[in-house]
Amino acid sequence: MTEQVIRIGIIGSGGIARMHARAYKRIPGVVVAAVADIVPGRAQALIDEEGLAEAAAFDNTRKLLEQELHGVSICTPNVSHHEQALLSLEAGKHVLVEKPLSVTLDEGIEMVETAERMGKMLSVGFQPRYDDNIKLVREIVQSGQLGGVYYAELGGGRPRGIPGGTFIRRDIAGSGAIADIGCYSLDMALYALNHPRPLTVSAFSGNRLGTNPAICPEADRFDVEDFGVAFIRFENDMVMTFKTSWAMHLDSMGSTFFLGSEGGLKLGSGRTGAWGGSFDCLGDIRMYRDMMGRQTETAIPLSGQPLDEPFFLKISDFVRAIRDDAPAPVPASEILVQQTIIDALLRSAAQKREVDVEWPSILRR
Ligand SMILES: NC(=O)c1ccc[n+]([C@@H]2O[C@H](COP(=O)([O-])OP(=O)(O)OC[C@H]3O[C@@H](n4cnc5c(N)ncnc54)[C@H](O)[C@@H]3O)[C@@H](O)[C@H]2O)c1
Repeated sequence: MTEQVIRIGIIGSGGIARMHARAYKRIPGVVVAAVADIVPGRAQALIDEEGLAEAAAFDNTRKLLEQELHGVSICTPNVSHHEQALLSLEAGKHVLVEKPLSVTLDEGIEMVETAERMGKMLSVGFQPRYDDNIKLVREIVQSGQLGGVYYAELGGGRPRGIPGGTFIRRDIAGSGAIADIGCYSLDMALYALNHPRPLTVSAFSGNRLGTNPAICPEADRFDVEDFGVAFIRFENDMVMTFKTSWAMHLDSMGSTFFLGSEGGLKLGSGRTGAWGGSFDCLGDIRMYRDMMGRQTETAIPLSGQPLDEPFFLKISDFVRAIRDDAPAPVPASEILVQQTIIDALLRSAAQKREVDVEWPSILRR
């Protein structure tokens, strides 16, 4: 029996849309049938440059959604994830939205509610979930070998690497380093810990390097944070320190580690110094446990998975879920947990005090 051809639309045709297009092209039985971008000419340019022979170009998402499509990739700037996802879900399409889920918590809640109401899948583009090393970290934490985890510290952060364009304007990106790369380390830690419920956040954010023209070429239009740090309390007496940065006068903000009653797990910062969860961000993995009354340290070999494999796997898993009518591979409802933290983090930094995390009733458990 021949499999049904899965027809995909791509909304937004900038940098990340290219990676979506290339991954879809590698999957047998998948056709990118439509591309939309609000800037006239951009959708057609993506189609031509990536050889999407069967795709039609649109300068309007609504016209794209009139096409016969099974699913769409939303590759627009953060501020429009909410609008584009609602339009797509209401048009009856399954959705893979790029990270971060949304700019505000309320937007994220409405996106999840709309997916539920429409009976459509809403998955979020966190490719580090498909990194073999990250899967191993989760397996170790979930295996109970660390005992009860009471502390997690998220290191990393880029020494330099402030992006430009749409990423540094609050009206388009919502937030800066926290939404752009902080969301990765938060997702990886929450995923490893099985999404514990956060209670309070005390945070600070700054933009001293992003607004310095000697460091950031677009300093005059930079109005997001380039640095964020937070102390987060969770239920069951667990706490977390979160740190992220696009630029700093340091090589790295250190390792990521989990401390448990029976053991510890350390993920060293790698080549890029940013623990975003991907292979080249990870220097090493070390496990610490007592044996015969002595503290031992075990180096766990890193996987040799090719660097671009996790991204391909995220796209192919979305297609698999469409084909199998399966749940979203990275459910937006799960990502709402990190949205509650980012929401509280930004409020706490603005108010310069600890704040309570708002827990959406849709997540009541
Ligand atoms: N998963 C990853 O590794 C990864 C990497 C980079 C970016 N991203 C995410 O992908 C998203 C896009 O980032 P990018 O680097 O491709 O940005 P980009 O600025 O290069 O491209 C965005 C495109 O969307 C178009 N656009 C804007 N509003 C639109 C709308 N309402 N309808 C249709 N098109 C619209 C723009 O004209 C532009 O061509 C962001 O949310 C970002 O966080 C994810």
